[in-house]
Amino acid sequence: MHLKKSWVRTKDGSCTLRIDSLNETYHSLHGAIAESEFIYLKKGLRFWQKSNPDVNASILEMGYGTGLIAFLSFLNQLDKKTEITYTSLEAYPLKINDIERLNYNNFFESFEYLSFLDFSKLPWGKVNQLTSKYSLIKHKIFFETFEPKKLYNVIYYDAFGAHAQPNLWDIKWMKKCFELLDHGGVWISFCSKGSVRRGLQKVGFDVERLSGPPGKREILRAVKP
Ligand SMILES: C[S@@+](CC[C@H](N)C(=O)[O-])C[C@H]1O[C@@H](n2cnc3c(N)ncnc32)[C@H](O)[C@@H]1O
Repeated sequence: MHLKKSWVRTKDGSCTLRIDSLNETYHSLHGAIAESEFIYLKKGLRFWQKSNPDVNASILEMGYGTGLIAFLSFLNQLDKKTEITYTSLEAYPLKINDIERLNYNNFFESFEYLSFLDFSKLPWGKVNQLTSKYSLIKHKIFFETFEPKKLYNVIYYDAFGAHAQPNLWDIKWMKKCFELLDHGGVWISFCSKGSVRRGLQKVGFDVERLSGPPGKREILRAVKP
């Protein structure tokens, strides 16, 4: 996936990267920050936290990409009493220059503890304990070969879309997600494909179709009973 990337401004003013040869972007063109905040934070992490207000959360992200969702999750935790252990997987880490061009620093300028760019420069393969409430480990690895020894509470499943990466939406990987989650764990994604919904149900999840963020009619959320 070391393919040529171009820079695109999305409808909320924030930018994302586009891979022309895959006809795919890293975030929705309707708003990179708006989409990430709505799907992964509001409908994923905060949904789980509502039912588990005093419990520390262990998050697994499939597709670190620009690090935007990891950073939003870090910001989410600043005023919380509980902790987040954030694990992110990425097969093709972006070059820092590509991330720098997105200029996300401008969107988070009121926040001075750690800039988005400093966050992006954190080393891979080691635990980065950023505050007492948030630690991040980024693994340069294919999701398919990741074999952790622990279970997660929330999975952000943010692979490229099925038209670009059909293999990653196969039922076999939905089953892997089911096995990686603890009971009550939440799988959340931008995806709304019928075959993915049926795959999630088949492997044992309770699946909901939710209204999506601007420009996206539906998204899927799945809970492990
Ligand atoms: C939609 S982008 C993720 C966007 C990201 N969550 C963000 O906030 O910028 C999908 C990411 O999945 C990565 N990816 C693709 N195939 C993968 C695989 N098999 N295992 C792990 N990461 C993969 C891509 O390189 C890309 O960075």
